[in-house]
Amino acid sequence: MTSAPRVVRLEDYAVPDWLVDSVHLDFDLHPRETVVSARMEMRRNPEAGGPEIVPLELDGEELEHLSLRIDGREAAPSEYVVDDRRLVLPRPPADRFVLETRVRIDPEGNTALSGLYRTGGNYCTQCEAEGFRRITWWPDRPDVLSRFTVRMEADAEENPVLLSNGNLVGSGPAGDGRHYAVWEDPFRKPSYLFALVAGDLGVREGTFTTMGGREVTLRIWVQKGKEARAGWALESLKAAMRWDEERFGREYDLDEYNIVAVPDFNMGAMENKSLNVFNDKYILADAETATDKDFENIEAIIGHEYFHNWTGNRITCRDWFQLCLKEGLTVFRDQEFTSDLRSRAVKRIEDVRNLRARQFPEDAGPLAHPVRPDRYAAIDNFYTATVYEKGAEVVRMLHTLLGEETFMRAMDIYFARYDGTAATVEDFIACMEEASGRDLSQFFRWYTQAGTPHLAISQDHDPERGTLRLTITQSIPDTPGQTNKKPHHIPLRIALLDGAGRELPLVTEDGRRLDDGLLEITGRRQSFVFTGVKERPVLSANRGFSAPIRLETGQGLEELLFLMARDRDPFNRWEAAQTVARRLVLDEPHERTQSLSEYAAALATVVRDLRETDPAFLAEMLRLPGVNVLASFLESDVNPQALHDTRNRVLARIAGTLEPLLRETFDMLAVTESWSPSHEQAGRRAARAAALSLLMHADGDAAARLARETWERATNMTERAMAISALSQSASPLREEVLDAFIGRFGDDHLMVDKWLAWHATWPHRDCVERVRALMESDWFSLKNPNRVRSLVGMFASANPVAFARADGAGFALVADTILELDRLNPQVAARLATTFRNWRTYEPVRRERAREALERIAASGRLSGDLGDIVTRTLGTA
Ligand code: PHE
Ligand code: ZN
Repeated sequence: MTSAPRVVRLEDYAVPDWLVDSVHLDFDLHPRETVVSARMEMRRNPEAGGPEIVPLELDGEELEHLSLRIDGREAAPSEYVVDDRRLVLPRPPADRFVLETRVRIDPEGNTALSGLYRTGGNYCTQCEAEGFRRITWWPDRPDVLSRFTVRMEADAEENPVLLSNGNLVGSGPAGDGRHYAVWEDPFRKPSYLFALVAGDLGVREGTFTTMGGREVTLRIWVQKGKEARAGWALESLKAAMRWDEERFGREYDLDEYNIVAVPDFNMGAMENKSLNVFNDKYILADAETATDKDFENIEAIIGHEYFHNWTGNRITCRDWFQLCLKEGLTVFRDQEFTSDLRSRAVKRIEDVRNLRARQFPEDAGPLAHPVRPDRYAAIDNFYTATVYEKGAEVVRMLHTLLGEETFMRAMDIYFARYDGTAATVEDFIACMEEASGRDLSQFFRWYTQAGTPHLAISQDHDPERGTLRLTITQSIPDTPGQTNKKPHHIPLRIALLDGAGRELPLVTEDGRRLDDGLLEITGRRQSFVFTGVKERPVLSANRGFSAPIRLETGQGLEELLFLMARDRDPFNRWEAAQTVARRLVLDEPHERTQSLSEYAAALATVVRDLRETDPAFLAEMLRLPGVNVLASFLESDVNPQALHDTRNRVLARIAGTLEPLLRETFDMLAVTESWSPSHEQAGRRAARAAALSLLMHADGDAAARLARETWERATNMTERAMAISALSQSASPLREEVLDAFIGRFGDDHLMVDKWLAWHATWPHRDCVERVRALMESDWFSLKNPNRVRSLVGMFASANPVAFARADGAGFALVADTILELDRLNPQVAARLATTFRNWRTYEPVRRERAREALERIAASGRLSGDLGDIVTRTLGTA
């Protein structure tokens, strides 16, 4: 059994009793025995009130307590209590005093990768959310802001580079082959933004001059010898700094900005003040080793972490329930960054695809929670698609409701009012209300009610009177702990299209003209009547995905094909195509035949229409929904194998019809000029990849030859990936051959090993289970490295439904075994892997039982970490 973790509730929030005005940290770095001394200036919080004497409680985890001093003297044993989670001074000496602690920690033995740990032979820290307490005793909560000074000392030869937050204010030899550095961060910050890095690293350097004329030195630190692969990250950082000035008016505030790339990291990257730490997969890139998608991800994540400097660091979160305050907002900002730099339409499609693949299923299952949760047992488990991606959708809806100008005015108020503080979602919304003069109290439900709203629109056209009535009903499904929800305030962007695809003016009965096509839905059931509508128009609803909802319009094939061909809203063109494709797979077979040929014909028109003008968008139009997305539209009886087989039959029919055109398009879009990661070239390569992968479903042999040729002629990683992904759709023996060649050539690069493992893990074949097991036994794999785990087991569980949900339960068992073993090393990554079971109840009965067995076996295995125990009990519904 798992020990019941303590539940933290939003309603119990109380301001901290004690503050730490400033702290001097001293690190005596040794791989197995690092001594951390902290000298903290403690002060009673005047806002806390309470009795004359209030105990001081500090958090700690896996710390070996060495000594404690109060105002310069050794504390008597009667003055404090120390256990394995807390250090308590029941009767602190005064309202202000100096507390000095000394602890010993073991970086080398830290496999959880939270706190101070070793990676690639270097020292590195990760403190969000609660890692700082694994470094030293501290009131480890984000509303305690302190000024940090950090001194570190380490072996000089092994650790020539010594970094922390802020400015370097001193350095020199320290005797015995050691040296030291002192860093001072002028900005008060919460402990989760602390960082320290020490080791031997190569650097790529640049400068950026801010709008105010400050010259900032930018440094990207990477494993020695990989400096050349840090160029794109550096350019992306400059682009991000420029963009935040131009779009949000935000300037950088220090003279240095450091980014360190490490090979062992639990997440993507971390925004520590002026010292970001990145998973090196989101830094290193060149034509040889990174795909266009990798380049885009790097740009976006560099942007994301940089944007946190204002939304997260300068203004931080009062408590962890407010996580979306920094994450939802910062994801919105990075989405806008990519949209402004690349294609807005394509970015929107990518984001919605991602939302449907990851957030909608979360919202529909046992792990559903509001964008702002109100209780948690393990905060690590709330870095979720709901907090991040749905959180960004909520900010996007505010932007839609207010418009760019008003939204930016609200942001300016927010920055001005809360700079240097720890804020709440209410604070943020209050700025939106103030700038717009609107009442957003109903809108606020987006933060507190979980579950994806369902919207149904019915149309009633009266040709005599020339009116169209839209009746819109909304409902929000029950989720764990929440029933009978209240209606949301939903911005729904619509258009009515005439037969030529032109947008009709939207005039309501009272003569108002809706220029922006924006309906505001606030009731459970609401009608809108538009006048001057003689002919029955075609409705284009939820344009640009203006709200993160499930929408039912009742539109038939004909209307959807019309939208797919004619809608000027590119998102809805794509959406219509996806809807038709989805129905082709999910509907009864006899309804398919006619529709299939009409859909194929419509797709052919799209190909001709877009291949020269917008290949990046074409690539999206050619990518049909995968098995997981199809399954997410079903509430029960999911059989991934059956879905996969039907999907393949549908694809074969479509590809068969389109074959010559796809082949021609593939050839036509070949990039002949010299390689660049530009959006323009990437778009052509993406369209070719989509065409090639569809072709594999037409004539496997001819396409396999084409894929092999592509592999052989490839001059960059995107083309190699294009060939291998295409071959992965087939049973072609060429697939094995090419994968072997790949690892022979790139096997000494861990990021390439990850790509190779992921290709193996996503082979949509039942035998993939045994293949993954064998690879886990091989030297290519290590349970200690999160990237290896995610590439092989994570991808298997999340992107290979056919094998993961194999009817005999072997796929579930494989993942359960891995979770249990991993939990002893790295609870955060183990818990994250366990979320791949979140929709287990939707499987057909046989698979559902197998999944239940796997989950129950985990639950019964004793001594689970708090993180894993929390996920498993909630998933099983025994929480
Ligand atoms: N705050 C990081 C981000 O969103 C993510 C992260 C969370 C990293 C927790 C590490 C640990 O950019
Ligand atoms: Zn973030």
